[in-house]
Amino acid sequence: MEEILVAPSVLSADFTRLADELGDVSSADLVHFDVMDGHFVPNLTFGLDVLRAVKSATDLPVDVHLMISNPDEMVEKYLDAGADVVSFHYEATAHAHRLVSLIRDRGARASVAINPATPVCLLEPILEDLDMVLVMTVNPGFGGQSFIESSPRKVRRLRRMCDEHGVHPLIEVDGGISSATAAAVTSAGARVLVAGSAVFGTADRAAAIADIRRAGLAGASKTA
Ligand code: DX5
Ligand code: ZN
Repeated sequence: MEEILVAPSVLSADFTRLADELGDVSSADLVHFDVMDGHFVPNLTFGLDVLRAVKSATDLPVDVHLMISNPDEMVEKYLDAGADVVSFHYEATAHAHRLVSLIRDRGARASVAINPATPVCLLEPILEDLDMVLVMTVNPGFGGQSFIESSPRKVRRLRRMCDEHGVHPLIEVDGGISSATAAAVTSAGARVLVAGSAVFGTADRAAAIADIRRAGLAGASKTA
């Protein structure tokens, strides 16, 4: 059976009790950490100090999603602060290949994120160098938005492109993922499910994680 990884997004947690919130999601596979700079996206979140605090409060690997205009300048700082996986946006750099190499040379997993309007074919030249591709299923910037319904088609196109090249980066999806939308993206090929409001917006976080994982597995068993 294929594995489905669930990554709760700290963006929807209660920041006044972050350590407790992280404890509540210990049954997840990754912690998703959304860095927004108020420039690449119209919202501002947290940065290096909060990442260090999150790292000290969880044993899970931390998946850092950089929604920032200057990843070339900042990636090394996030690696120094303990990022285990780094996703930078394709739209924010002219040097995606260089950044991927830098992340991997430092022993972290390298991932490229693409906005809803960015076609998957742009990743073809660097596909073999990626550990993961993050397909945004909402326009980045805020938690709690509605899943873009055409997203599974895009995920399927990416998976087919990977198959054609004989490479298998993980496909992560982010935005509007819940037990209601998980199967549609996993049946298309996604294997890492980011969920913010669907996990932290419920009282029983372990149950929410289990529900999303179950729905994702059901979809993955129908991958076509
Ligand atoms: C949005 C962020 C997401 C966000 C997802 O720009 O990248 O990670 O936290 O939140 P939900 O799951 O509520 O859509
Ligand atoms: Zn994110």
